[in-house]
Amino acid sequence: VGPQGAGDGGAGVEVVLEGLRRLEYRGYDSAGIAVVTPDGVQTRKKAGKLANLVEELQADPLPAVATAIGHTRWATHGGPTDANAHPHVGIGGRVAVIHNGIVENFATLRAELAAAGVEFTSETDTEVVAHLLARACEDTPDLAAAMRAVCARLEGAFTLLAVHADAPGTIVGARRNSPLVVGLGDGANYLGSDVAAFIASTRDALELGQDQVVTITPDSVVVTGFDGSPAQGRRFHVDWDAAAAEKGGFPSFMAKEIHDQPQAIADTLLGRVDAGGRLQLDEMKISEAELRTVDKIVVIACGTAAYAGQVAKYAVEHWCRIPVEVELAHEFRYRDPVVSERTLVVAISQSGETMDTIMAVRHAREQGAKVLAICNTNGSTIPRESDAVLYTHAGPEIAVASTKAFLAQITACYLLGLFLAQLRGNKFSDEVAQVLEQLHEIPGQVRQVLDGLEQVREIARYMADTRSVLFLGRHVGYPVAMEGALKLKELAYIHAEGFAAGELKHGPIALVEPGQPVFVVVPSPRGRDSLHSKVVSNIQEVRARGARTLVIAEQGDTAVEPYADVVIRVPQTSTLLSPLLAVVPLQVFACELATAKGLDVDQPRNLAKSVTVE
Ligand code: G6P
Repeated sequence: VGPQGAGDGGAGVEVVLEGLRRLEYRGYDSAGIAVVTPDGVQTRKKAGKLANLVEELQADPLPAVATAIGHTRWATHGGPTDANAHPHVGIGGRVAVIHNGIVENFATLRAELAAAGVEFTSETDTEVVAHLLARACEDTPDLAAAMRAVCARLEGAFTLLAVHADAPGTIVGARRNSPLVVGLGDGANYLGSDVAAFIASTRDALELGQDQVVTITPDSVVVTGFDGSPAQGRRFHVDWDAAAAEKGGFPSFMAKEIHDQPQAIADTLLGRVDAGGRLQLDEMKISEAELRTVDKIVVIACGTAAYAGQVAKYAVEHWCRIPVEVELAHEFRYRDPVVSERTLVVAISQSGETMDTIMAVRHAREQGAKVLAICNTNGSTIPRESDAVLYTHAGPEIAVASTKAFLAQITACYLLGLFLAQLRGNKFSDEVAQVLEQLHEIPGQVRQVLDGLEQVREIARYMADTRSVLFLGRHVGYPVAMEGALKLKELAYIHAEGFAAGELKHGPIALVEPGQPVFVVVPSPRGRDSLHSKVVSNIQEVRARGARTLVIAEQGDTAVEPYADVVIRVPQTSTLLSPLLAVVPLQVFACELATAKGLDVDQPRNLAKSVTVE
């Protein structure tokens, strides 16, 4: 909501479209926008990407006013059609609503409204809220009070924004579980699911708590609880600027983010060691005494973040001698996990808003476990609800499939493992300084990998018609293999599987037929006894059955050469740190192959970056 222009105008539509462009990574199967004029609300909505909405607005413009709301959708209730796109207008045509999340009791509410004669124009849960709000506004002229009354009836997770024709300079927002932040401008204020929405206009922001309602006008922001009691958000300043969320000359956000990885690792390592060489995790708010009593670590995460957790398991168990379990957050939540006050739960999430992970964090805390968040988004829900936070400093990640955040998450897991080892003073603690030294070399080594990948790009372009790719790895190479397969599925829609190389003979080898491409992540020959030779044997096994072997091996490892159709080299480092190097060629391979297929690598079909529903 901004100032009126000189005439009747205002830049509401342009500002909202710019915000939607920056938030499109959150969902992009349809988009819509509403403006409010004293005569009523007007909307334009289109299925498909934002470009379709922009086209529609050019053909049929909305009035230039100062107040507008917009939405880009990832469908839950009802397919991605024009009618199901948000905003939804309530009965009487004077209220418009947008919504993230799921209203779980929407069927009951819809039946109630239908019985009262309300006709629905969409299949969404959101339209129910729009009608309820329109009816609540008949009882009060105060849109915020009406919103609070409606929220009291809703179950589930939601961020709602609403405008009303009787209050053309006002937007009311409500938040339960799904994210909502306020942008504090000069003569204009903003609301967005994250700060990227308004970063071009202001870097001053206000974070809202759970169950709060906010009312913004061009020059005021008022926050209350759902019960109407006065409340206050937490002010913060965004430490990256609009340029950090631009492509910066790269063909895609993904290409830029892959290129940014050395910086993401270096920034995550920055300032963690004091003058005496001891690790400092100053965002750690769990006492050292409590950390010394930890007898089990459980990592909870989803998607790529869960593979960072798998890497952490090998490193932390080795360094700290504490058992580590890694579990998908949505699975953790629905069993009876054995956790106690001595369990440290580590929640890894780029966005800090993945609903499955939020729910798992709550489930863990309810049972007395301490939760430490590894997160890339300052002030998001997961760190706010955790006992301690270790931020990754990867900067904004826009491409839907994760790359630089993954490397930063692995880096943060190493820091956590080293910190615990140091704190607990076991026999490994003398080696912490040495590992840290190796870790500081990694950004330069990732740069070397990136500089030498023309061969991988060429192979990817050549393989654009491939229908299936297998990935094998052992030890830390196993999660790398799974992440390589995930990237290929997400970006290039190619069937891909990552297997533990030792498991091959127990089943997956049946998939291998002549010409089958198989990537193999080979551990360092200088590492653990026989690990390297076992993987070299696995390469021979698939090669003997006609597979085309693409081998990722350390510089100087000549043992792989007789069995590899292609060798992709990475610099030497210790086995435990090697995932930070080995995964990079796999990311580039998937990105390049998808590009060669003409696909949108930043916004793959059916996916969303922050999945704020369960
Ligand atoms: C979504 C994204 C994945 C991501 C996962 C976890 O599914 O498409 O790329 O790895 O969520 O996201 P988080 O923000 O919790 O790391």
